[in-house]
Amino acid sequence: MTDCLGDGAGDMTPMDLYEKLTSQGDTVRTLKTEKAAKADIDAAVQLLLKLKVDYKQVTGQDYKTGCPPSECVVSQDNGPAADGEDMVDPWNVSTTNAKGVDYDKLIVRFGSSKIDQELVDRIERVSGQKAHRFLRRGIFFSHRDMHQVLDAYEKNKSFYLYTGRGPSSDALHMGHLIPFIFTKWLQDTFDIPLVIQLTDDEKYLWKDLSLEDCHRYTMENAKDIIACGFDINKTFIFSDLDYMGASPDFYRNVVKVQKHVTFNQVKGIFGFGDSDCIGKIAFPAIQAAPSFSSSFPQIFKGRKDVQCLIPCAIDQDPYFRMTRDVAPRIGYPKPALLHSTFFPALQGAQTKMSASDANSSIFLTDTPKQIKNKVNKHAFSGGKDTVEEHRKYGGNPDVDVSFMYLTFFLEDDEQLEKIRQVRGGGVLPDKCQRTQCTWTGTIDRHGSTFLQYCCQVLGSGVILTAALSYILKCVFIILPSYIALHFNWCFNPNNHTINDYPHS
Ligand code: TRP
Repeated sequence: MTDCLGDGAGDMTPMDLYEKLTSQGDTVRTLKTEKAAKADIDAAVQLLLKLKVDYKQVTGQDYKTGCPPSECVVSQDNGPAADGEDMVDPWNVSTTNAKGVDYDKLIVRFGSSKIDQELVDRIERVSGQKAHRFLRRGIFFSHRDMHQVLDAYEKNKSFYLYTGRGPSSDALHMGHLIPFIFTKWLQDTFDIPLVIQLTDDEKYLWKDLSLEDCHRYTMENAKDIIACGFDINKTFIFSDLDYMGASPDFYRNVVKVQKHVTFNQVKGIFGFGDSDCIGKIAFPAIQAAPSFSSSFPQIFKGRKDVQCLIPCAIDQDPYFRMTRDVAPRIGYPKPALLHSTFFPALQGAQTKMSASDANSSIFLTDTPKQIKNKVNKHAFSGGKDTVEEHRKYGGNPDVDVSFMYLTFFLEDDEQLEKIRQVRGGGVLPDKCQRTQCTWTGTIDRHGSTFLQYCCQVLGSGVILTAALSYILKCVFIILPSYIALHFNWCFNPNNHTINDYPHS
C-alpha cells in the first residue's frame, strides 16, 4: 500500500491487486479452454484464490470481475472532516479558528510528515545555505519524501522542481506568490531545473470563462511569475492549452495516468459527482503528468527517472496523493512534496486570500494607495474592543493579520520578534505609529512586478535598500525574462532546452 497506509516497499495498492486478479482470472480461463494439464490449472486457481483473499484483506471488499476497487483506500484523506473541523481541498479553505487552520491535524489527516527542526537543519547542512524564512517559521510545514530527495542529492543524484498556477484572474495576489518565492529559493540553492504548469485548461473547466480568457490570463500571470526571478536557463513555464498539443511525451503520460485511476478513485479524492463534466474528471491526470521527467524530453533528454520535488500549498495535495499512488504502477518515481500553509485573507486567518474576493486580497496590480486603503480598512488587527482592555491585555499577534503578513515577508528574525512584542503588548496603535505595518512598494503590470513589505518601524533605510534591490532586479532579471517572453522563447517547447542537465 502507498501513502496513507505507509510507503512499504513491495506492498500492493488495491488497484494493483485488482489488475493482478483480473489477469490471473484470464490465465485460469485460458488454461481451461486450452485443456491444459490439471496440475497447471490447479496451481493457477490456487494463486487466484490467494489473490482474492489478499484483495479482501486490503480493500474490505469481495473481488468482482469488471468492478475495480470502489473505495480509494490509498489516496483519500484519513477520514472526512468531522463536524467543526477545518475544510481544506483544492477549492475550499475555511476554519472557525481565528489563528487559522490546524496544520498539525491536517498532517495526520493527509498522512504527510511534519517538517521538523531536524529536517530544517538537514536542508541547511546539505545545501550549505541558511534555511529560507518559510522553513524557519513553519510556513512550509509538511512534506512527503524530502529525506529521500536529500539522501539522493548527497549521492550526487539531482532532482527537478515542479510547481504551477491556475490562472483565473488578470493578476496574482500575495498568497499566490508564496510557493513561487520558495521555489525560487530552492532553485537558487540546489541549482536545478524547474517546470511551471499554468493550468488554463483547469480554469476553463471549473469557471465560467472562455478559453481565450483563460489563455490570456495565463500570459498575464506568467509575467508576474517570471518576475520572481527564476533562472532563465533552467526554467520552463508552459500553458497546458499550448503544451499538451505540442508535446507527444507529455500527452502519453497523461493517458497513462488516466488509465490507472478509476472514476471511483477521483470521486473519493476530489468529490466529483455525476453532473460534473468529464473534463474535470480527467483533469487530475494533467496536473500529475509534469511530476514525471519523461513529460519534458527537451529538458531531461528522455530520462524518465529524474526525481521531482513539488513545492505547493497543502490544498493541492489531493492531486499529488493520486500521482504518488499511480507513479510506481507506470514505472516512475513518486514525486516528493513540500507543503505550505495558506496566506491569510485580510479579514483574518479563517480563510485564505482568494482572487474572487477583491477585498480579501492584495493583488500584485494594486497601487500603493489601494494597498494602504485595503490594509487600513480590512486588515483584522486583533486589537481589543476598548482602549482600557487593549492597554490591560495587549494585542494578540497570533490573530493580527498585518503581523502574520510580516512573518511571511520580513526577513530579519530579530526585528520580527521585536514587533511581535510591541504588537502583543498593551500599546495602542496611535501610540505605536511606528510599528503600524503598511504595504508599500509596487507592482506595475508590465515587467516590473516586485513586492516589498515595508514596516515603518524599520525606517527609510530598509525601504531604500528594497528600492535599490528592486531596480537592480528589474534591470538584470525581470527585463531579460520579459523580453524572452515576448520573443515566445519560454513558451516554445521546441526551442527550450535546459543546458547542462543533469548537474552533479
Ligand atoms: N491546480 C493549481 C491551481 O489551481 C495549479 C497547479 C498545477 C499547481 N500544477 C501545480 C499548483 C503544481 C502547485 C503545484 O492553482
